[in-house]
Amino acid sequence: MDTALNYNYRVVRQFAIATVVWGVVGMLVGVIIAAQLAFPALNFDTAWLTYGRLRPLHTNAVIFAFGGSALFATSYYVVQRTCQVRLFSDALASFTFWGWQLVIVAAAITLPLGMTSGKEYAELEWPIDILIALVWVSYAVVFFGTLWKRKTSHIYVANWFYGAFILTVAILHIVNSAAMPATLTKSYSAYTGVQDAMIQWWYGHNAVGFFLTAGFLGMMYYFIPKQAERPVFSYRLSIVHFWALIFTYMWAGPHHLHYTALPDWAQSLGMVFSLILLAPSWGGMINGIMTLSGAWHKLRNDPILKFLVVSLSFYGMSTFEGPMMSIKTVNALSHYTDWTVGHVHSGALGWVGLVSMGSIYYLLPRLSGKKEMWSVRLIEWHFWIATIGIVLYIASMWIAGVMQGLMWRAVNDDGTLTYSFVESVKATFPYYVIRMAGGLLYLAGMLIMAYNTFKTVSGGQPADVRIPAIAGAHA
Ligand code: HEM
Ligand code: HEM
Repeated sequence: MDTALNYNYRVVRQFAIATVVWGVVGMLVGVIIAAQLAFPALNFDTAWLTYGRLRPLHTNAVIFAFGGSALFATSYYVVQRTCQVRLFSDALASFTFWGWQLVIVAAAITLPLGMTSGKEYAELEWPIDILIALVWVSYAVVFFGTLWKRKTSHIYVANWFYGAFILTVAILHIVNSAAMPATLTKSYSAYTGVQDAMIQWWYGHNAVGFFLTAGFLGMMYYFIPKQAERPVFSYRLSIVHFWALIFTYMWAGPHHLHYTALPDWAQSLGMVFSLILLAPSWGGMINGIMTLSGAWHKLRNDPILKFLVVSLSFYGMSTFEGPMMSIKTVNALSHYTDWTVGHVHSGALGWVGLVSMGSIYYLLPRLSGKKEMWSVRLIEWHFWIATIGIVLYIASMWIAGVMQGLMWRAVNDDGTLTYSFVESVKATFPYYVIRMAGGLLYLAGMLIMAYNTFKTVSGGQPADVRIPAIAGAHA
């Protein structure tokens, strides 16, 4: 075996820093729209500051810019370390970084201008969609090319999850974005009516399953064992987890279309597969948490491990809640209410956010030639502030959501509605203020991370550090 390996850390570092920068931006926009829902005057009667335009900016920024950069950074790091080879192509890897940043900047300009295809999580117009497809195919070439030239015989399980995420997102994006361009900034979907809706939510749900879940599970399978210095609790379970999860997710999309024109059998199919999905989700969560067996004491003073383990608890929570919400009678209450928004953010802030932050904290010093982050104490502060923020956010949305659902369905003896819609809006006001406070805390945590990151990376060793090879496949 080589005595030293030369990895491309430059692109990993670029994406790691981009994660922090876009995290601040995306969450700031989240706080602004949360504030607008409580105080609508905050759109200042300016078209590009209105809620309808900033909301997709928020979702695109947090999912694709923040989450996407974290996925690029960690997958490039993990695939090199576990295959013990440098990335397949430095030039293509660099193209994925700059191409992805260009997509993000294009989104940040076009969405506030009101240019949108109108498909949730796929709002960007066709020229940007083409750029996304080019970047994504390059990403696939770099990732799978690196696997191809690996020096280890085994492909570590984290790479299976990253690989499934990359492959599936390519298919989802290309199929769902098929459209007929009318002008440079406007296109019409290739699908119509209920088929359009079904394809959109096949995309939407698998964006949750593969973008917001499978890739982050790849993170979990690498960074939890590394940080805890323990092997994965059950490698066999991780393989079962992988196949069961990717098979089941594909069928669950119709739970987004309950009580619509979609045929009833398809809705029930979506519900049943969503219920089945509880099993692989929890299998994976338990595998991650049990990896700490014998290392629980480390949680006491290792804030990075706190981020990683608590993220799994939120993963467990949201993947229990999701199957429950997919039951048609429960969905009849939850749909259209803030319960859905609470569910989304227990997954997004609790799972996606915390696991990304933990992993990036793990990476940053290693990419900058430092022993640890500039301030470990600030990581601890970040953890607690973010966790309190999440609890405020999701608890207020649960209460608001159930209250809205119950108010909307309440009828008097004579069959008339007990409450007008506006009464439910007024009743929601305090919860919107609490959500805004929770969001502010979460954003404050992210700002602390940005400061700590700046202090850690400035003056650090920039790129392509030569590091001693560590014996064993999963270095
Ligand atoms: C400071 C943190 C955040 C705040 C204050 C915030 C706030 C908001 C608000 C106010 C909405 C609109 C809800 C509505 O339409 O009623 C929203 C939607 C959304 N946010 Fe966030 N957000 C934050 C962080 C995040 C993060 C980190 C992610 C993902 C990783 C995320 C993903 C989403 C998604 C997917 C939606 C759409 C939900 C749906 O359609 O049901 N958010 N957010
Ligand atoms: C077993 C796993 C899960 C199941 C079965 C599930 C199920 C559901 C259901 C039934 C809804 C409500 C659909 C509606 O009434 O419109 C929903 C919405 C949503 N879930 Fe989940 N969920 C799961 C896990 C997650 C996780 C881990 C995340 C985030 C990381 C997430 C993100 C979302 C988003 C973004 C939406 C809102 C979509 C929209 O309307 O814009 N889900 N989920």
